[in-house]
Amino acid sequence: MGPYSYKITGGHPLKGTVNISGSKNAVLGVLAASMMIDGECTLENVPDISDVHVMIELCRTLGASIVVDKSEEGSLILKIDPRSINTYKATGPAVSKIRASYYLLGALLARSGKASLRMPGGCNFGQRPIDLHLKAFAQMGARGARPEDINGGIITLSADPLKGARVFLDIVSVGATINVMLAATKAQGMTTINNAAKEPHIVDVANFLNAMGARIKGAGTDTIRIQGVPVLPGNFSYSIIPDQIEAGTYMIAAAVTDGDVTINNLIPTHMEPLSSKMREMGYTIEENEDNDSIRVYREKDVEILGTNIKTSPYPGFPTDLQPQAVVLLCLAKGMSKMHENVWQNRFQYVPELTRMGASINCFDRVALVSGIDSFKGATVTATDLRAGAALVCAALAANGTSYINHAGKIDRGYENIVQKLRSLGAEIDRVDDAVYYEQDAEA
Ligand code: UD1
Repeated sequence: MGPYSYKITGGHPLKGTVNISGSKNAVLGVLAASMMIDGECTLENVPDISDVHVMIELCRTLGASIVVDKSEEGSLILKIDPRSINTYKATGPAVSKIRASYYLLGALLARSGKASLRMPGGCNFGQRPIDLHLKAFAQMGARGARPEDINGGIITLSADPLKGARVFLDIVSVGATINVMLAATKAQGMTTINNAAKEPHIVDVANFLNAMGARIKGAGTDTIRIQGVPVLPGNFSYSIIPDQIEAGTYMIAAAVTDGDVTINNLIPTHMEPLSSKMREMGYTIEENEDNDSIRVYREKDVEILGTNIKTSPYPGFPTDLQPQAVVLLCLAKGMSKMHENVWQNRFQYVPELTRMGASINCFDRVALVSGIDSFKGATVTATDLRAGAALVCAALAANGTSYINHAGKIDRGYENIVQKLRSLGAEIDRVDDAVYYEQDAEA
């Protein structure tokens, strides 16, 4: 299958209910963690998205056995047995496809005292160093963790033994927090992570590790304590938490199409940074009594007003909802401001939104957004995963038809997006690139 586009004809208010899948960022950490088990485990509610398939392949290349089944709802069920792992090297080209392959460093180091990794890939929104991960591993006794030790894009760490340490992260980093937790799980003694990230998927990975037999306390706060253990027996089932970013994307898609959507299988507290901003703008956000769904709509005659948003680590506003939220701000009355506080260069999609009629001025890490009445259909390109999701939201709200090129980037993180949106009344099709280029040539 070559590159493909999403063809979306906008203007249909989304209506109905949609179920949220398992968290991409949680399952990627959990899969790496599962490589450390001295037994088997079963993972449920695993999203059927391309990043997960890449990670499964990476784990299989190490020698792990992963049997993939599908549940009736479409999520994956994985039966994992890593006891057949026969290498400490994850250096094939697939490693560069996803950022989260860096978790294999922590997991393999813990498993075998040695790890070799090709430098990871992922969305390109500015510098994405792993210096904090390496500094922490060095503190834990790993050799080969200095930046100058990276050789031909490959880093090789060894520790004999890996020892617990006091780690202070000078920047709140999701990846470094999880990677240190992984390595510390089997290190000798106690590791403390200060200024740890608090994202929901950090808690999920810690819960999974504890189910394996790890001794981790404090995940979800800024101090995490990990008492190393020699053996991780495994033999359990674990269900991945719902995806906070997928849920937020559907909340925004419902809002920008002036629809009325109930989003099921989410954790409302995880949505609070977005829900509170949307309420402030004028939307009605209702949480159900069972605490697992949110309804989004606009009361008749309520005007939607612009606002200012600043991204920051959890519980702040998630950077992975920043592009989608800018689409929301575009359709609000007046001026709004988006301040990107996490990534250096995450406004690459703005020229694409401008082609759809947006009025946005970017200065360094700030986007000034002037409200418009509506988007217009256009041919645009998904510059990365969440940028692609933002373009989908804009296209759903637009007058006319849009083609979103490089739609494979969107499928890295959204399970069944075409079917889910269609069931809410959207007009969306997957078309192959031939159609896209024909259209482009005509334009
Ligand atoms: C994870 C998410 C990504 C999300 C990001 C922030 C995964 C697989 N990806 O990425 O979707 O956008 O959290 O919520 O979970 N930094 C350093 N040195 C390091 C590590 C990070 O300077 O060693 C900086 C980064 O350049 C960035 C900031 O810290 O400015 C936050 O990055 P981090 O939280 O580590 O992001 P990721 O874990 O890569």
